[in-house]
Amino acid sequence: MKSKIIGTGSYLPKKILTNEDFEKMVDTSDEWITTRTGIKERRIAEDNQPTSDLALRAAEAAIKDAKISSSDIDCIIVATITPDMSFPSIACILQDKLQTQNCMAYDFNATCSGFIYGLMMANTFIKTGEAKCVLVIAADKLSSIVDYTDRNTCVLFGDGAGAAILVPAEGNEGVLSVYIGSDGSKAELLKRHGGNTRQPYNKMEHTDFRNQYIYMDGKAIFKHAVQRMTSSLSAALEKAGKQLSDLNMIIPHQANLRIIEMVKEYAKLKDDQVYVCLPKIGNTSASTIPIALDEALKTGKLKKGDLIGLTAFGGGLTFGSAIIQM
Ligand code: ACO
Repeated sequence: MKSKIIGTGSYLPKKILTNEDFEKMVDTSDEWITTRTGIKERRIAEDNQPTSDLALRAAEAAIKDAKISSSDIDCIIVATITPDMSFPSIACILQDKLQTQNCMAYDFNATCSGFIYGLMMANTFIKTGEAKCVLVIAADKLSSIVDYTDRNTCVLFGDGAGAAILVPAEGNEGVLSVYIGSDGSKAELLKRHGGNTRQPYNKMEHTDFRNQYIYMDGKAIFKHAVQRMTSSLSAALEKAGKQLSDLNMIIPHQANLRIIEMVKEYAKLKDDQVYVCLPKIGNTSASTIPIALDEALKTGKLKKGDLIGLTAFGGGLTFGSAIIQM
């Protein structure tokens, strides 16, 4: 027994921040951002729009796409690094809003690899019979933890949510393998240090106030991203008994076009075999993959029978890949 995806959904806030907007905010240029990252625009949630609002809209779209009732769902898992509050979880907020009864619901933090980690959990619950209909959501309002005076990070990130519904599958189609991993020794390369128990807001000196924002050693992260995405893709392929040449498409985490290009070269795929939505959305953390997956399916770029590889990398470090027969 394995699982398959029967519906996807995504949501992006309406407000757009362009590279030209950043030229007025920090010492940067459209040319620098485009050539170094590939990003042109990113979506920004309203002040009164918490992450659960983005997650709910993506979930509702996935439920509609799957042609199920929300009452069919018996597990809601939300990957996020920007929850509405420490507790209760976004998943519990959604359980109430979607009116799903007899449903386990929890959030988890696997940074940008969250959707792949979510697939691992959904697949395992379905394989073991613990759940029959799992709603996996990745949602983040990164604008709430970005320092808009730091040009090194602020141009990279956006807000958004993506969701998928998984049910038991027979035959060839479905999630063939998921491989996930971590390397906590590199935790200092990408972090949000302040605002939790290590440095609560009420213990923060004025000079520390930037600790509430994302810190990133971009160069080091770049190197590890390429290495971990390609090695985890190989590990997932091996687990599935497949090869790189079997893949019709890969959907990589959308962090930087140059990272995506390097993964594409490694996988020896053509341009149209690597799904890219980064220029329009920026890095929305774990939700880039389900947003891209939803777009690829809805625009017909991904078809039934295609073999796809999803691959991600994020702070922690975390990384992982999944092989899916659509
Ligand atoms: N505009 C203009 N100049 C800039 C900007 C900007 N927005 N940002 C940085 N620079 C400057 C730097 O200050 C530096 O100037 P200096 O040489 O005078 O010090 C110069 O540009 C070069 O900086 P580098 O760090 O060498 O630039 P690089 O080519 O490495 O690109 C980037 C930086 C885009 C951040 C890249 O390293 C990257 O994308 N890294 C990976 C990021 C990533 O994948 N993050 C994942 C996050 S996932 C998660 O879990 C949230």
